[in-house]
Amino acid sequence: MSEIQSPAGPFAALRLDERLRDTRLFFSQALRTFHATGSIVPSSSALAHAMAHHVRFRTDPDQPLRILEAGAGTGAISRGIAAAMRPGDTADLVEANPEFASYVESLLESDPVLSAVADSTEVHACLVDEMGTDRAYDVIVSGLPFANFTADQVKGILDYYFTVLRPGGTLSFYGYLYTKEVKAVIARREDYLRQARTSWLVQDWIDRYGVGSEKVFANIPPAWVHHLRKPEWESSSS
Ligand SMILES: C[S@@+](CC[C@H](N)C(=O)[O-])C[C@H]1O[C@@H](n2cnc3c(N)ncnc32)[C@H](O)[C@@H]1O
Repeated sequence: MSEIQSPAGPFAALRLDERLRDTRLFFSQALRTFHATGSIVPSSSALAHAMAHHVRFRTDPDQPLRILEAGAGTGAISRGIAAAMRPGDTADLVEANPEFASYVESLLESDPVLSAVADSTEVHACLVDEMGTDRAYDVIVSGLPFANFTADQVKGILDYYFTVLRPGGTLSFYGYLYTKEVKAVIARREDYLRQARTSWLVQDWIDRYGVGSEKVFANIPPAWVHHLRKPEWESSSS
């Protein structure tokens, strides 16, 4: 497992007006639905870069990738994915919040990075597991705030990812550093215990399938990115 400190600062790749527009929308939605949004500002370009690792580095450079992003938000990580996509790759960007989904849809026309992959990218306004199991992906990038969910909810989502992931495919997700320590001080006991159960479950998946982790300090808050690989011998939906 590697630990890197990315040289790119938060939002480094975005112009100031784009950054403000994304942050304003993100913050206003976070105030309304913090449980599902899980953060108050969008991810940094450094985190997006780390999350797109398996879109950039592929085992077979001649094989196009089918990519799923869960929880696209205002498109911060989608941009990192789009920048690493190659001709022939396709991407499904899934977002439960309809305000965010229609914003990302508009970015496919207006954003310089996302518009370059607009023809091969589709936005879906739904919960990720409502996408169904008649699909197969090579790379899944998940921005869902697992720390806000129950262990059962996270297990359902991870099981879904590994159902639609092809054997040998990768799943990347992140969690914020020091969440457990902060919750130990400020959270109510039942919320602390809920989060502890969720983090044991997530750690169990990392222990079983993890192929690399990295710390990204250039993000608010700093994050741990985890990369998992579905074993070749596990079956998938197609
Ligand atoms: C922490 S935010 C990440 C947003 C963006 N990827 C980023 O990094 O800035 C989590 C996002 O996941 C979305 N979300 C939460 N649960 C979801 C689910 N079950 N299916 C799809 N999207 C979900 C939220 O609406 C929110 O936009």
